[in-house]
Amino acid sequence: PKVIFIEQSGKAHVVEASENSSAMNVAVENDVPGIEGDCGGNCACGTCHVHVDPVWLDKVGKPDDAELSMLDFATDVRENSRLSCQIKMTADLDGLILHLPES
Ligand code: FES
Repeated sequence: PKVIFIEQSGKAHVVEASENSSAMNVAVENDVPGIEGDCGGNCACGTCHVHVDPVWLDKVGKPDDAELSMLDFATDVRENSRLSCQIKMTADLDGLILHLPES
């Protein structure tokens, strides 16, 4: 599945994810700026924060409680905030658009 990361400047990074990898892993592998993934995808650092494009919100779903409490530590948190390490890339998310928050 493809993922499109869009920077604040509007610059887009179109990257190909392997099935069932996390959106964070794909970003780190492709050097998408602003996604660090410091904790290795364990929902414990908040450095993989993204804003899910409104069109994709229903498909991606809501954060669980553990993710929500970690999002408390992130900046520029919005209704559509998610930790990208908790988004699993499956075929039905092909074309997913994620916006990079201000860091
Ligand atoms: Fe640490 Fe996602 S990589 S919370």
